[in-house]
Amino acid sequence: MTDDQAVVFEARGVSKAYGTVRALTSVDLAVRAGQITCLLGDNGAGKSSLIKVLSGVTAPDGGTLAVDGEPVRFADPRDALDRGIATVFQDLAMVPALPVYRNFFMGHEPVRGRGPLARFDKRKARAITEEQLASIGIRLTDPERPISTLSGGERQSVAVARAVYFGARVLLLDEPTSALGVRQAETVLRYAVRAKRQGVGVVLITHNAHHAWAVGDRFVVLKRGAVAIDAAASDITLDELVRHMAGGEEVTQMRRDLREIL
Ligand SMILES: Nc1ncnc2c1ncn2[C@@H]1O[C@H](COP(=O)(O)OP(=O)(O)OP(=O)(O)O)[C@@H](O)[C@H]1O
Ligand SMILES: [Mg+2]
Repeated sequence: MTDDQAVVFEARGVSKAYGTVRALTSVDLAVRAGQITCLLGDNGAGKSSLIKVLSGVTAPDGGTLAVDGEPVRFADPRDALDRGIATVFQDLAMVPALPVYRNFFMGHEPVRGRGPLARFDKRKARAITEEQLASIGIRLTDPERPISTLSGGERQSVAVARAVYFGARVLLLDEPTSALGVRQAETVLRYAVRAKRQGVGVVLITHNAHHAWAVGDRFVVLKRGAVAIDAAASDITLDELVRHMAGGEEVTQMRRDLREIL
């Protein structure tokens, strides 16, 4: 249904090895504008390795990346960002002691005045941050509140809001909900959906099939570094997804084994 959306970012045949460990073997992934593609898979399946390649943190050993169909090579994450590929890593690159608006505008500081008189436009930064946060349901009574005092979910949401505000076309989210409670995870997911509605192509990594199911347009499951499933939401059921992800039979076997022991 949504497969006719434009592919904005694509990995073709991407491989990556760390020494003798083959983390990725010829992986294809298409990121479409206005879609959430969920990247799933067990521990060690290669999800983070793929995100690192897509975000310019590491170079692939083989394969290519393309933005709008044009082959690209990223020297570093800044390079990827310049092409509109923004990443929210789990360990958010923020300065804990600084106020939220300072973190929001880090690297994009608005200035007032020119030349030697130019200075950080605090009022503008505060107003925009306040407005953007209000739109995701975060209200700060004290604008000088350091970002470290926000909850994990709120910080993730700020990172997403920030990427979208500064014009990301593709948003890569590496397990944004893994450390969060139900309500906080919902906030982050809601914001991913909002980004999608604005036409952003979102890649959401998660261990949680239910989170994926709630928001995903497409599901890609990695197994031992290769794509095991690539299916549109309309072509797969939650049951199938869970089974493929968790290695359904292995879970059943583990349950049997544990019951015998206990
Ligand atoms: N820097 C590294 N050096 C050596 N091996 C690595 C490195 N990074 C990842 N690997 C290995 O590559 C494989 C894929 O790891 P990766 O982190 O991509 O998995 P993942 O799907 O993100 O897992 P998780 O769900 O646990 O985060 C694993 O076997 C891992 O041990
Ligand atoms: Mg990982």
